[in-house]
Amino acid sequence: MLASFRSDLPAASGTWQPPPEYSFVGGHNDAASVPFSGLAEALVNALRREGSNLAYYNLGGSPLGYRPLREFVASQLGARAGIQGGPDQVLMVSGSLQALDLVNNAMLTPGDTVLVEQATYGGMVSRIERMGVNHVGIELDNGGIVLDHLRSVLDELRTQDISPRYLYTIPTVQNPTGSVMPLDRRRALLGLAREYSLPIFEDECYADLTWGCERPLSLRALDGDGGQVIYCGSFSKSIAPALRVGYVIADEPVIRQLLALKTDAGTGSLEQLALAEYCPSNFTEHVDRLMYTLRTKADAMVAAVRSEFGDNVQVTEPMGGIYVWLTFPAGTNTDALALAANQAGIEFNPGSGWSSDHEWGKRRLRLCFGAPDLDTIRGGVAALAQVYRASL
Ligand SMILES: Cc1ncc(COP(=O)(O)O)c(C=O)c1O
Repeated sequence: MLASFRSDLPAASGTWQPPPEYSFVGGHNDAASVPFSGLAEALVNALRREGSNLAYYNLGGSPLGYRPLREFVASQLGARAGIQGGPDQVLMVSGSLQALDLVNNAMLTPGDTVLVEQATYGGMVSRIERMGVNHVGIELDNGGIVLDHLRSVLDELRTQDISPRYLYTIPTVQNPTGSVMPLDRRRALLGLAREYSLPIFEDECYADLTWGCERPLSLRALDGDGGQVIYCGSFSKSIAPALRVGYVIADEPVIRQLLALKTDAGTGSLEQLALAEYCPSNFTEHVDRLMYTLRTKADAMVAAVRSEFGDNVQVTEPMGGIYVWLTFPAGTNTDALALAANQAGIEFNPGSGWSSDHEWGKRRLRLCFGAPDLDTIRGGVAALAQVYRASL
């Protein structure tokens, strides 16, 4: 059968292995914080009330998703991120990964060029590369995208007659660096994007977990009716990734065009019912509690990295979210370090996969502190430091 498959497919998936003792990969969350009792009660209530609608695709309602959940998302983002607009500008998707696929499908063809942050979400880098699309990384500092560099890249591309299809940015709790772009830079970024007719794809999947500063207005909010920004977010980080519920927010014609590309006959209804019932009275309190837990873990991980690795290694102090980003001395190869670490029961994401320039990323790595408990964080960082020292 495999011989009959297309020849340009990615390598087949390996067989699943349980995680090792010290697992710092992926975007898992704190298991003890999942509000499963509240979600169970919410789901039972919702099913008792309207469970017979499961007979119909999309519960018999709009293919944009379950309306009460779209209303919740619209009102939350109005309050938290300043985004104006109603439920018809919200498309519920199967995790924000589906948002990335829909937007890429709508906007990209092989040979195109997109702009990304120099360190960015690996799931986006691999998607872009698989589509045969070029990506150019824009430098980051503590406030996110460096605008002078963005302008110089845009000018350089212009001399080659290249118009990037979009800029993909994670301005609030950047993955992997954990930075938050300040408001004045957001305004300036939008100005630049307008000047160069550069669409912005804003991914705010960690923004509900911002603790280092007040959450700034999103680029989409600042854009108003400008039509310059497509926005996506997710319940993966604020509630639970296994739910697979995310959302896209854009102007209605854009949402309807994306919907035409969404071929899964609807995002899972049980998850949407549970969230729509649970969130209006519980979301804020839940997220506040979760942030407290994650912040404690972040502090423990930063402290462990500093004490185990010393001055050799720089570590970010994240302003939210679930990751720290480590930079090693020049010449370090974290792809090789990952192989040695695996032998010692430790896994992390090497920086090469989380960077537009894979070579630049080779002396960097990302650790997720969402799932491991405090002892595992301390023990795992100590074990990783031992592997690193042995590799020198
Ligand atoms: C920046 C970013 N965008 C999107 C996703 C996808 O998340 P999900 O599909 O679970 O919503 C992730 C997951 O880690 C992410 O870090």
